[in-house]
Amino acid sequence: MKTRIYKMEPENIDFEIINECVRTILDGGTVAFPTETVYGLGANALDPDAVKRIFQAKGRPGDNPLIIHVDNLTQAGRYSENIPEKAHILADVFWPGPLSMIFNKKSIVPYETTGGLETAAFRVPSGRIALELIKASPVPIAAPSANLSGRPSTTDSSHVIEDLDGRVDVIIDAGRCSLGLESTVLDLTSFPPSILRPGGVSYDKLKMVIPDVIRAYSDKSADTPKSPGMKYRHYSPEAELFIAKGPSDKVVEFINRMTSTHPGSGVMCSLGNAEKYTSQKKICVGDIENPEEIAGNIFDALRMFDKMGASRIYSEYFAAGHLEDAIMNRLTKASSGRIVEL
Ligand code: TXA
Ligand code: MG
Repeated sequence: MKTRIYKMEPENIDFEIINECVRTILDGGTVAFPTETVYGLGANALDPDAVKRIFQAKGRPGDNPLIIHVDNLTQAGRYSENIPEKAHILADVFWPGPLSMIFNKKSIVPYETTGGLETAAFRVPSGRIALELIKASPVPIAAPSANLSGRPSTTDSSHVIEDLDGRVDVIIDAGRCSLGLESTVLDLTSFPPSILRPGGVSYDKLKMVIPDVIRAYSDKSADTPKSPGMKYRHYSPEAELFIAKGPSDKVVEFINRMTSTHPGSGVMCSLGNAEKYTSQKKICVGDIENPEEIAGNIFDALRMFDKMGASRIYSEYFAAGHLEDAIMNRLTKASSGRIVEL
């Protein structure tokens, strides 16, 4: 398949391209587009054949449901029912933004979109290009992250081109995503409401609005995770990733010892420690005091290590404030749980 790649800047929306993307979506095609979190691979959420093309392009297991992108809660109400009062408050506070809310689906939403579930996740992204595309589209847009299944999510157009050129109809190339980490997935069909995937909106922020919210995610691979996506191999670079957790001096000492016994290993670290590592393949993902910076860099770093040909990757454990859960959820999965406690 020949992929059409169009450059666009969020400050300078090209409506001809947006309209062409909408036509592609209405024709049952696939369009990769930037959101503030990560790039999404979009298709008509109401068309089972279109949705199947997303799964094919990504190599994604069919029981892993997609998030439906809409432009407000009223739109979500056309495709879901029993939306609780809490959702209105949450939408007022966090939409548009990195929060996906799960409601009971209406029959108009095909099971292909929800991976066979009776529920569906909805999100209003805040990225300008995503919003314009959604507003221009008469149908809601189902979109998982625009990466090959199992690979790190795509936070830059170069990642999307690397994974999906030739596999999708259109890629909107708008450079880097501002946040760089996926949305928080919140189940509002369960009591109390539960966070199935930590993301851009932290537990503490949600708790201020809905005090009864609980965390239902686990870094250990639970037997039957409620969010089907959480059971698969995820975010994985080619190299084996190891995470070192403990006092900073012990972490540095351990990682330096490991990288000297395993030459060619990479190191993923925070700014404060960057000077202390001896490996040549070192990527500093940011200041530990700046959670957004670290969150925005981890997926790119994982891909960079592959390009550098790192044989193994040793990463610090990033206790990065309100985004610690989300960052460490992704890294723990990418490492298949290889955490070394020091
Ligand atoms: O930030 C994001 O959420 C990005 C952008 C493109 O919006 N999308 C994204 O989609 O990360 P994806 O498919 O990579 O991750 C969606 C997660 C998966 O873990 C999936 O299992 C879960 O949400 N999910 C979706 N619908 C669900 C449902 N009805 N019940 C439980 N989990 C659901
Ligand atoms: Mg994903």
